[in-house]
Amino acid sequence: MTHLIYPTTNFKAIEQISIERGEGCYVWDNQGNKYLEGLAGLWCTALGYGNQELINTTAEQMSKLNFSHMFGGKTHQVAIDLADTLAEMIPMQDAVLSFGNSGSDANDTHIKLLRYYHEAIGKPERRKIIARERSYHGVTVAAASLTGLPVTQNHFDLPIDALGILHTDHPHYYRGKHAGETESEFVDRIVGNLEAMILREGPETIAAFIAEPITGASGVIVPPPGYYQKVQAVLNKYDIMFWADEVITGFGRTGNDFGCTSMAIETPDMMTFAKQLSSAYIPISASAIRRDMYDAMIEQSAKAGAFGHGYTYSGHPVACAVALKTLEIYQRDEIFAKAAVTGEYLQQRLAEFADHPLVGEVRGKGLIGALELVANKETAEPFEGGMVGGYAQKMAQDNGLLIRAVAGSSLGFCPPLIISNEQIDEMMDKVALALQATLDYCHKEQLLS
Ligand SMILES: Cc1ncc(COP(=O)(O)O)c(C=O)c1O
Repeated sequence: MTHLIYPTTNFKAIEQISIERGEGCYVWDNQGNKYLEGLAGLWCTALGYGNQELINTTAEQMSKLNFSHMFGGKTHQVAIDLADTLAEMIPMQDAVLSFGNSGSDANDTHIKLLRYYHEAIGKPERRKIIARERSYHGVTVAAASLTGLPVTQNHFDLPIDALGILHTDHPHYYRGKHAGETESEFVDRIVGNLEAMILREGPETIAAFIAEPITGASGVIVPPPGYYQKVQAVLNKYDIMFWADEVITGFGRTGNDFGCTSMAIETPDMMTFAKQLSSAYIPISASAIRRDMYDAMIEQSAKAGAFGHGYTYSGHPVACAVALKTLEIYQRDEIFAKAAVTGEYLQQRLAEFADHPLVGEVRGKGLIGALELVANKETAEPFEGGMVGGYAQKMAQDNGLLIRAVAGSSLGFCPPLIISNEQIDEMMDKVALALQATLDYCHKEQLLS
């Protein structure tokens, strides 16, 4: 009997492996079984496991200054250096950054910054945020309200309306298209729906549109070409900000430095980061805004006596030092360029499963991808619930591969950025075995239609 409540777990069907150690792209459980990490932990361990430079950096920073906060008059150089380095690196001009501990709290910070800013410029009515169905922005009360997945919203009585959060269409053509609709017709229809929503709500009430350039937890949705360009044209027309949630897509994941680059998104107004920011060696997140937004809030904070938001661990010196070293390694070792090459290879190898009887769609970009398993390849009929995806995930695990079934029965792939082509081959061999076992199971249980 444990005293733990497990996150994102079915309490009635807990079947676990206890992971004990890791090295490179592999982890071992407490029975000595070895697994290839096909999901980089939870889309985060970009530099794999046991990176000695990151371990040394942690120890050195802990020895020098294990904690100092940043409230009301305190600062430290390592947080300043990280903010400066990130501002140089991200696809925004002259960004200003706030640090937190998780992707969820980074998104919460942005909701508050948006409100604080709009009050400061005398437009407090601009407080609504448009998110999308099938998006994942985290699980705090506010971030879960942005998220567009039933499992993170049902039973929590979230203040979605009170927060002024709206959800527009997801950009997944395979699942969202109408009969006979082409990709570009699909894009025009859903962008038309977005504009209609803006007009219905009143453009002057809408602060921002939030999107993961490519989604992760909702099934790795890569929007069709032209989608973001059309979305941004509509947002610009009504002076609505574009907020890129790059918690998964940031730092080399999608074949470029950032997801915005891969998806040709023009300079976002706000961005959020976590996960690969420190290669998950230690929790840290960042929320970036335009400098003019920050400047507009200076008087506001003086009037209030303080900008009343921040976490004990905002800019934790050890987390900042580890993030700085991670960014240094990314640049010094040309990790993004190398990941772009292995990413192409991953996509090529995943595409080979397109003909598999269980695979309805293969999708992805760079080192992130998914195979959507379906009950009927011709009609794209999905499997009921997430059971078949869960079965395939377990079969992969039994064959020494850790991946994750997401959005029902899509198998998500997101290996460490340091994975080699040989390891991708190893991963695909294991996927083939898992799919065969799953197909046998589906035949036995008569799950195919
Ligand atoms: C795009 C995106 N945003 C936010 C989050 C939330 O991050 P965290 O779990 O660190 O709170 C996630 C987590 O997977 C994510 O994928």
